[in-house]
Amino acid sequence: MAGQRVNLDGEAVKPLTICMIGAGGFIGSHLCERLMHETDHTVMAIDVYGDKISHLLQPGHEWSDRIEFHKINIKHDPRLEGLVKMSDLVINLAAICTPADYNTRPLDTIYSNFVDALPVVQYCRENEKRLIHFSTCEVYGKTIGSFLAKDSPLRNDPAFYMLKEDETPCIFGSIDKQRWSYACAKQLIERLIYGEGAENGLEFTIVRPFNWIGPRMDFIPGVDGPQDSVPRVLACFSNNLMKGEPLKLVDGGESQRTFIYIKDAIDAVQRMIENPARANGQIFNVGNPNNEVTVRELAELMTDVYCKVSGNARPEVTTVDVTSKEFYGVGYDDSDKRIPDMTIIKKQLEWEPKTSLYDLMEHTLTYQHTTYAEAVKKAMSKATAT
Ligand SMILES: NC(=O)c1ccc[n+]([C@@H]2O[C@H](COP(=O)([O-])OP(=O)(O)OC[C@H]3O[C@@H](n4cnc5c(N)ncnc54)[C@H](O)[C@@H]3O)[C@@H](O)[C@H]2O)c1
Repeated sequence: MAGQRVNLDGEAVKPLTICMIGAGGFIGSHLCERLMHETDHTVMAIDVYGDKISHLLQPGHEWSDRIEFHKINIKHDPRLEGLVKMSDLVINLAAICTPADYNTRPLDTIYSNFVDALPVVQYCRENEKRLIHFSTCEVYGKTIGSFLAKDSPLRNDPAFYMLKEDETPCIFGSIDKQRWSYACAKQLIERLIYGEGAENGLEFTIVRPFNWIGPRMDFIPGVDGPQDSVPRVLACFSNNLMKGEPLKLVDGGESQRTFIYIKDAIDAVQRMIENPARANGQIFNVGNPNNEVTVRELAELMTDVYCKVSGNARPEVTTVDVTSKEFYGVGYDDSDKRIPDMTIIKKQLEWEPKTSLYDLMEHTLTYQHTTYAEAVKKAMSKATAT
């Protein structure tokens, strides 16, 4: 279907069988879509949920014989090992990865991000399979600059805030700040995978996503997810906007983040898949350093863009401040600033992100509005009636 495609070194890309764990989530659904639409690779998609890829699984598509869904919880299912054995490449995306869970469900978070990933690494090593493992930018924790005085000029020196895969230390809060359970579990599985590469020759690539964002991210509480659950910031703010309520800013919304459009990020992952000689043994930051905002600025931008795509008037009050204790409960803490250094991925994979923050927000909020706005209205009128 894709014709004879070549990789970055001009070599023919051979069709692979990919065992993708966590394929039914946000990133997995976009990766499956890309692999079905633009390549000849086959995907064995593993997840406990398949809703976000159901459009790819229906029969009759030209790719229908190249994707199959395995409803498996990798915590306890002997079929996982067999599927790893049948593959050429394993991609592990499965995780609990929602900040609201890190301090309230630290055990589930640690088990999911470390313990449940162990057999995947073990099966890859035993069967000599290549592994692309999804870690997180949270492994960097806080920047060195955050420990300097607020008015220190060194805070403006990139050496104190730029996050480099092979130089920057990982700085987490104290153990009672359970927020760091996620980052710490991800760091330990990274170290284990790195060790498997060094001692046992495991072929691996570690991906550190920096706030990938786009359609199908998380859920809207009370519509396609539990009413009392707290999704990541995009879905939280989208929910507030569709309900016409102020966006909740945790601890002043001062944290700085860089956002990247999911489709740009998927380009990078496709390059990792198809250029093993350039990606093996590497840890890659995948983000867009040009799209940096504070969470407060993000709230204002999302309000502007949502008014544009929905035709609603801009509300007088756009945000409301809440403490992290009120919003997330005890044990919450945060990284101050996350700017990815892009040197390694640019050199190895000749990749750079393209989409501006405004454009990615316009695509994403158009999707949120068309998919959810009516359902949110219905859910609100039902709640008022009862
Ligand atoms: N989206 C981002 O910006 C971002 C940022 C940092 C790290 N990551 C990492 O990327 C990966 C994918 O993230 P995402 O945004 O797609 O999250 P997601 O929650 O949308 O997807 C994760 C998927 O894994 C599945 N899963 C979890 N535990 C499982 C189990 N035991 N068995 C089978 N399936 C299981 C879930 O059902 C879900 O569909 C995660 O490892 C996450 O930590 C993502």
